Amino acid sequence: MFKAIDLSPRVGSEILADRSALIEGGYSRKIEKLLVERSALVFRELFLTDEEQRRFASTIGEVVPLGEDGVSKISLDPMVSDTADYTRGAFFWHIDGANDRVPAKATMLTAKVLADGGGDTLICNTYAAYGDLPEGEKKALQGLKVRHALEASQRLVHPQPTAAQLTRWRTRPSQTHPLVWHHQHGGASLLLGATCLYVHDVSPEDSSMLLCRLHDWATQEPYVYRHKWKVGDFLLWDNTGTMHRADTYALDSKRLMHRTTLQGEEAVA
Ligand SMILES: [Fe+2]
Repeated sequence: MFKAIDLSPRVGSEILADRSALIEGGYSRKIEKLLVERSALVFRELFLTDEEQRRFASTIGEVVPLGEDGVSKISLDPMVSDTADYTRGAFFWHIDGANDRVPAKATMLTAKVLADGGGDTLICNTYAAYGDLPEGEKKALQGLKVRHALEASQRLVHPQPTAAQLTRWRTRPSQTHPLVWHHQHGGASLLLGATCLYVHDVSPEDSSMLLCRLHDWATQEPYVYRHKWKVGDFLLWDNTGTMHRADTYALDSKRLMHRTTLQGEEAVA
């Protein structure tokens, strides 16, 4: 049994599927296709164990060996996660691995503990957002390149960093990517997010205005799916044709997600 139900016209589908066939990869080709078409796939109250999540993930890609055998704890509590400080950057629209040459293919979360308030996950479809731009604007964006760096996303969390903070952020990789990602399968999407430092070869004023305008455009309601979590929900999204963010929640919240990331398969071009 496999059924996909659209949650909105442009983004997000709920998947109803036989649990064990799903985990063993029985629907992996369908899921890969739907990921590109629908951006975000929701499996309500699936209650995957870490082992099941890892097994399912390995049927649609190569699991990034982070955390415990490919399953990382996402929490703002530094006792739970050693990247808790960077997790606050996830309150802003971004893609995972934008500072790498090959960004992650997909990201998936199982909800273990919910926030008392806030903490929804939002995903926007940047294929649809690009596709709906006026043709003249699409043309104007071709060839533009954007510098992506941790510095940009961390400045949103720490607006006035110390030189020591800045130095630490700059030890991490940064990357220049095209603003429009022309994928191997033929589709094109906007590559934006909190990691955008500047657009190359335009004035700083034009750069910040262009990035702001495109973020406004891409995060309009028709392109956004908002997931309101229940414990046990499993959410999977195509990291290469979307942006995502978490709605803010209390910094002392015990909200806990178990995340698995799939290795990217395609450099941005
Ligand atoms: Fe993320």
